[in-house]
Amino acid sequence: MMALKSKFIILPLVALLWAGCFNALGAARPIPIVLDTDIGSDIDDAFALDLILASPELDLRAVTTVSGDTHARARLAAKMLSEAGRGDVPVAAGEPGAMLDIAQTKWADGFTSPALRSESALELLKVQIDRAHGKITLVPIGPLTNIAALLKQYPAMAKKIKRIALMGGSIARGYYPNSPPSAEYNIAADAAAAQTVFSSGIPIVMAPLDVTARLQLDEAHCQRLFALHGPMPQALRALYALWGHPTPTLHDPMAVALLINPGLCQSKPLHVEIDAQGMTRSIEGKPPNATVALDTDPAKFIEFYMSRAAPSSVR
Ligand code: RIB
Ligand code: CA
Repeated sequence: MMALKSKFIILPLVALLWAGCFNALGAARPIPIVLDTDIGSDIDDAFALDLILASPELDLRAVTTVSGDTHARARLAAKMLSEAGRGDVPVAAGEPGAMLDIAQTKWADGFTSPALRSESALELLKVQIDRAHGKITLVPIGPLTNIAALLKQYPAMAKKIKRIALMGGSIARGYYPNSPPSAEYNIAADAAAAQTVFSSGIPIVMAPLDVTARLQLDEAHCQRLFALHGPMPQALRALYALWGHPTPTLHDPMAVALLINPGLCQSKPLHVEIDAQGMTRSIEGKPPNATVALDTDPAKFIEFYMSRAAPSSVR
């Protein structure tokens, strides 16, 4: 009798959960995400936003910005969204920090749009998380300042966030081939915030330097991408010129790509702890708090990236 009862409870529950993942035609529903970014410093945040916009598997609900002149970063993100025909995506700036010049933000000087919200990044994150009833994946690709502040100000949020897919950390390798692990920028820039996030209990998908530092978009690929006439290739081309370096390393796009195709990396559940200097260490014998990407095939990743960002150039 008891078994029969639980069958009646469990089966409809499974059906309900299953139906939540698929639409009426049986296609997988896009994953609702909020991007938290320090777009404007390194070039890879812009490439990550481009990948999101080129990926029907993802449903971008909002963008928040972090670190330094967060308003200039928000203008840059909002202009990219507007050029891509996604002026409907709200953008909010996090708490501003030191107002140092950020070269790429010149591209969006004076840009205005109703998408640029006056509320804080924290308020926009909270509204989006509440509205999505446990389905939001946060994608932080800068220092974790906003995410930690959100969890501190609204502790109940931790249970409402489905997962966090972040670029950050360094487990067995650093920025350079065969280099030892190092204090990766996104973690080290606000190590206390990273500690808060990694101890929050929210499932984490982590793309550390072990995989991301190997993702160089070489000159031939850049040329193929920038030769395209669409608004996004042209936006990336303009930002690349302002950035002023030869070779983008696509750190941040890997955090996005793992949501679309986890098979791009070999990953393991690990317990990751962060020290005050921003070193991320895997601790044996403790329950895992993150699924960590530890290896990848860089050529396969670049092929995947190009198939999304420059499909017409892929032979
Ligand atoms: O260490 C790589 C990270 O730092 C990336 O998020 C990149 O955009 C830079 O800010
Ligand atoms: Ca970044």
